[in-house]
Amino acid sequence: MKKFTDNQNCTLVRVPGTSANCGPGFDCLGVATTIYNYLDLTLLRTGRVEVESSGIGSENIPRGRRNLTWQAIRRLLKEVGREEEFKGAIIRTKSNVPISRGLGSSSTAIVAGLTAANKILGSPLDKNDLLRLATELEGHPDNVAPAIFGGFTVSVMDKGAVQTFSFLPRIKLKLIVAVPEFELSTRLARKVLPKNVALKDAIFNVSRASMLVAALVEGREELLPLAFDDALHQPYRKKLVPGMTEVFDAAKSAGALGAAISGAGSCLIAFTSARSGLEQKIASSMVAAFQAHNIKSEALILGVDKRGATVIDS
Ligand code: HSE
Repeated sequence: MKKFTDNQNCTLVRVPGTSANCGPGFDCLGVATTIYNYLDLTLLRTGRVEVESSGIGSENIPRGRRNLTWQAIRRLLKEVGREEEFKGAIIRTKSNVPISRGLGSSSTAIVAGLTAANKILGSPLDKNDLLRLATELEGHPDNVAPAIFGGFTVSVMDKGAVQTFSFLPRIKLKLIVAVPEFELSTRLARKVLPKNVALKDAIFNVSRASMLVAALVEGREELLPLAFDDALHQPYRKKLVPGMTEVFDAAKSAGALGAAISGAGSCLIAFTSARSGLEQKIASSMVAAFQAHNIKSEALILGVDKRGATVIDS
């Protein structure tokens, strides 16, 4: 993507799409993936907000001041006391991350705005500050944290404050994402969840989420097949994603270490080690299992993004 203008108030950033939950880590685990959205931002001293978007879902991206990236930029300008200096922006985006599919597309819009504006202003904020603002705007940290830091992230909320641990797994993973043709709103996917859960289900998840993080950090691949299962959200969301169980079974039969709903769906994600060489086979099995339920899907074969939001040019 070529830069829009050539002045000191503009920069180009790249932000990864993310997959939250990773099975048992409901609302706290996330992973950054190697599919990216781009933002070419110019801050303006005048009050004009211009949005130009291309790529996936670009026709539905709000123009003008309702634009999510602009709202993130405004929040950052306010945070650093520069909102009177820069009142507008030219926001030029190129999107590759599918929208409303559980791959963190709204997080990329927020994180891109914060990262680019921060860079233009001389980086007054660090990544933890950006995480705080992004979590405030998105409402939860599980997608914005990996979008900022890259790798896997574990996030804890405490009295409104967020703490994140980010790490790169010691196993080289491939992420196979089956992207169905239908969208799923996070609001609906949260509405089907129970208010209370059984202690045995809580234990099921705490043990697996802990095992998942420990096995990834230590590179203990043999422990992973236990670790991606979930009892807190997927059983209730199953009815919103026809064929979910069969797609998981197909991925595992084709050699995946585990499979899960990506974020709140509708994508399903499977994990395999890169050295297994099984990613194509897993991808075809997942697409075929969706098709058996009359759901068209396409498969993306991704890796784990290591860097998070990155300034490409400034
Ligand atoms: N953890 C959230 C959920 C992700 O599963 O509802 C949504 O962005």
